[in-house]
Amino acid sequence: MACLKTTELLRKTFLDFFQKNNHTPVPSHGLVPLDDPSLLFVNAGMVPFKKIFTGQDLPVSRQVVSVQKCMRAGGKHNDLEQVGHTYRHHTFFEMLGNFSFGSYFKEEAICYAWDFLTNILGLDPKRLWVTYHASDHSARSLWQRIPDFSTSSLFSERIIPINTLDNFWSMGATGPCGPCSEIFYDQGSHVPGAPPGHPAHEEGPRFVEIWNLVFMEYEQVSEGERKKLPHACVDTGMGLERLAAALQGVVDNYETDIFQEIIQESVALTKKPWQGPHKVSHRIVADHVRAASFLLAEGVAPSNVGRGYVLRRIIRRGLRHVNQLGHEGLGLLSEVAKTVVKKMGSFYPELVAHQTHIFRHLLEEEESFHQALRRGLKVLKKEMVFVQNTPPQPPSAPVSLSGSFVFHLYETYGFPLDLTQDIAREKGFDVDTKGFEDKKTRHQQKAKESWVEKQIVADDKHLLTNVAYPPTHFLGYESHQAQGNVQELLQNHISCNTVVQGSFFLLANQTPFYAQGGGQVADCGTIQSLENSPISCVIEVSDVVRKKGWYWHHCMLIKGQISKGDPVVFVVDPKKRLMVQANHSATHLLHHALRLTLGEHVKQEGSFVGPHRLRFDFSHPHPLSFETLQRIE
Ligand code: SER
Repeated sequence: MACLKTTELLRKTFLDFFQKNNHTPVPSHGLVPLDDPSLLFVNAGMVPFKKIFTGQDLPVSRQVVSVQKCMRAGGKHNDLEQVGHTYRHHTFFEMLGNFSFGSYFKEEAICYAWDFLTNILGLDPKRLWVTYHASDHSARSLWQRIPDFSTSSLFSERIIPINTLDNFWSMGATGPCGPCSEIFYDQGSHVPGAPPGHPAHEEGPRFVEIWNLVFMEYEQVSEGERKKLPHACVDTGMGLERLAAALQGVVDNYETDIFQEIIQESVALTKKPWQGPHKVSHRIVADHVRAASFLLAEGVAPSNVGRGYVLRRIIRRGLRHVNQLGHEGLGLLSEVAKTVVKKMGSFYPELVAHQTHIFRHLLEEEESFHQALRRGLKVLKKEMVFVQNTPPQPPSAPVSLSGSFVFHLYETYGFPLDLTQDIAREKGFDVDTKGFEDKKTRHQQKAKESWVEKQIVADDKHLLTNVAYPPTHFLGYESHQAQGNVQELLQNHISCNTVVQGSFFLLANQTPFYAQGGGQVADCGTIQSLENSPISCVIEVSDVVRKKGWYWHHCMLIKGQISKGDPVVFVVDPKKRLMVQANHSATHLLHHALRLTLGEHVKQEGSFVGPHRLRFDFSHPHPLSFETLQRIE
């Protein structure tokens, strides 16, 4: 049995067990969700299957099993600040899960879980406790049919109804959801803590939740609306790290094989023992290097926005604790990352494939942060002395660092809030987090407003977005020339029936003109009356703006007049269209060349595509040398 206990063997044993029970193994999806802008990272095993549960996509098989990479940092599920201070919080973790998409339901899910834990892994049934949603009577009856569990005289004590959202799992504000049954492992009476549902449950780590069986029956469509899923489904999730701890007889996940090898590297490099006052920092280093390595392997690059910012926070928090461990030189995180690749690379080949990229990025981030940290720490220490010597108002108020100061540290020295909080907490200071968030929001708002102002020409603001016509039919893919009927004319922001001179905006039922969008300029060309028209006109089109589905042509009347209802011919300037098209293709080529030369992390963050030039925005942590530029070219 001992050989079953390493994390590597646990993954394999889990996959084998469910494969034998007719489940198709599905490889882990990436940490970055592909088509779910509502989510920063995949944070549960079921996330990649969301559309299968709701019936929008078809599954490869109706019973699948996976070991899914998960990240709970940033966004709704954010455990970053707890990591290091507890036994069980991680940013990156692995979730073992078996899923049924309209195949089996509660009974089989419960039987599989019990069989796997007690017969395959050999966990003592007397140490297992179960919760279920208080309204889910069928779940209780099914547990009552499990012989080893229900025949125990302690059955009624060890099956616990819970009437809260703890036993009703939902992915987020919307999405698939349902009541759940959780299996807890009792670490033993020598560990403090109480059973689930008991008021003192959270006070000690004795009872650890190892497996969550979700009986997915509903979809939360909006806040007030929940509907039945097309089929009753099963989603189960078991944290590999917790399971390993139970099987390896340790309370602290960081004492399992997967973490200890990484931690021993951190111990060797810093010469600070694991046992003793440095545990928190060693845990943080190990956890954060794992998380950063996986994110870097997927092409996420440290930056000041979105996922890149979460990655930067993780790396910087890790570095701060390298500092706490009294380590002076550079390169510790990338050294520790080598052990992560060694330990986890056989199951996750992306770590091996991108190892050079991972090590290089960690080192570069370390170098740049080192400089900022030195300067920022000086400023922070000075401020703490100042605050210490300034009596708080009122005198009973806590000694606190102001929101504007913390924002200044963030803005100027790249100090993430949690880093400042960590340092402040050590010295007994509070941090005005609300003040910080307000300041940051105001700053972001200002930046956004000034950016938006630059993008929109004054007239655009007055274009109608609620016209009574259907959206403009776009013909630009097929032709450069097409006929259409004028529906709306706007001059000096006012709707008019006829235009006899000057500039104006024109809306028609259809057009071959591309509107500006995604950094690409619009088509230009002419609009003319039909050959046999009683009043002839020639109009020049200099720009096209799309508002909702309506294409507004920015026009200058050259000859004649134009009225609502007139049939006209739209003629796109083919030369400009071709030049813009060529530059559009060139952005794709450039993107590819950048990824080949600099790495997979290069992602388009903005662009300008015009007839004479293009611009391509991307982030990369250091300047490009002349040689690199030549290679890209
Ligand atoms: N979705 C559930 C969870 O994350 C079970 O996989 O706990």
